[in-house]
Amino acid sequence: MRLTVIGTGYLGATHAACMAELGHEVVGLDTDAGRLAALRAGRAPFHEPRLAELIARHTASGRLRFTASYEEAGAFGQVHFVCVGTPQRRDAEGADLAYVESAFEAIARHARKGALLVGKSTVPVGTAARLADAHRVEIAWNPEFLREGFAVADTLAPDRLVLGVRTARAERLLRRVYGTVLAAGTPLVVTDFATAELVKTAANSFLATKISFINAMAEVCEASGGDVRRLAEALGYDERIGRAFLRAGVGFGGGCLPKDIRAFAHRAAELGVDLGFLREVDAINMRRRDRVIALAREACGGSVLGARVAVLGAAFKPDSDDIRDSPALNVAARLDLDGADVTVYDPEAMDNARKAFPLLGYALSAEEALRGAELVLHLTEWPQFRELDPWRAAALVRRPRIVDGRGALDARRWRAAGWWFRALGSPAQPPPGADGATTPPDPADA
Ligand code: UDX
Repeated sequence: MRLTVIGTGYLGATHAACMAELGHEVVGLDTDAGRLAALRAGRAPFHEPRLAELIARHTASGRLRFTASYEEAGAFGQVHFVCVGTPQRRDAEGADLAYVESAFEAIARHARKGALLVGKSTVPVGTAARLADAHRVEIAWNPEFLREGFAVADTLAPDRLVLGVRTARAERLLRRVYGTVLAAGTPLVVTDFATAELVKTAANSFLATKISFINAMAEVCEASGGDVRRLAEALGYDERIGRAFLRAGVGFGGGCLPKDIRAFAHRAAELGVDLGFLREVDAINMRRRDRVIALAREACGGSVLGARVAVLGAAFKPDSDDIRDSPALNVAARLDLDGADVTVYDPEAMDNARKAFPLLGYALSAEEALRGAELVLHLTEWPQFRELDPWRAAALVRRPRIVDGRGALDARRWRAAGWWFRALGSPAQPPPGADGATTPPDPADA
């Protein structure tokens, strides 16, 4: 089929490349000249496993093209996917729909007769119905659940497909688009517009709630001497609870969860429904960043002023160069404001971090960041940080003190190598014999 994808951000660029991979002819539209130039040259505009390879292959074969012209996109496509962003509004917690509205307006004006316009962006419930009433074209809503770092895999083999449609024809067209995916046995939910829009916001709210739940348990563990990692493990054996999304740490960030829960609570309130618990989910999440800063101060004897702090991680999560609402950079910037001498290292997100936080110090490797550090903060769980050798790391730093903000490091090894080691949600000192740790040195004497 001939498809267009309007907007080539994380969602759009991935969707366009994956639709070409499924065998469709695809035109991607973006108005950003720099992004278009990269895509036309067959390059992925951001780091995402497998994406660069798909874009290079399908731009070379001609199955995937890019344009800035709505006229060209409109003349080409049978189905148009709108994948533009819905950021948080500057003046409020609700979603800013300006890009969605102008994209629908423009493509509706140029679309051929019988074309289907499909929204994929995350929007407040009620948006699809409003757009359908405003434009004389057929509309469907098909939310996207891709995770950064797994965007290609999640698009080609999703957990489920959700189609919000008003007509059998729209359903038929979308079933054709996703024919290969459906043939592989992917579950399909065909529903109305409102439900389709809600699936996305409800899923993200549930995931955020799970993370904040375990982070609230981490607070209780810190206050009571419990260990949140063992607690999460034991909870996870209950199939009704499940193991996923129970990793306690410095909390969630990124371009989706934080803004989506705020927008959802805001939209629900407009509809007269109080989702106040989502504000608590947000508050618990932000408190985890404060906790890392408190531990950093404690480790430095009360103040970080003048202390050399190595921050391992800048991306909001591993396998991504995305720094949007990144807990790691938020903590790094706040310590810098407190007078610490901060050096950040991340395997992929250095360019983005430097642009957004030009005043922080940056290192070209984890080793370089560690050299001379008086405190190390582990804030993004890249595998290479987990594999750091605590003995070699101890030889690089000035003082062996580390806060594991992701609960991913092996406390026993780090303590055995002589480190003062603290993890969020774990006891300050493990109970005797629990993990064979040696008594950690007091930070004040270090
Ligand atoms: C999320 C949803 O998972 C995805 O379905 C939706 O389409 C977009 O939003 P993404 O933002 O890419 O995807 O990242 P995700 O893997 O969900 O992680 C979100 C944040 O939660 C990250 O900052 C991550 O570090 C954090 N997290 C995740 C935890 O702190 N603990 C966990 O157990 C899991």
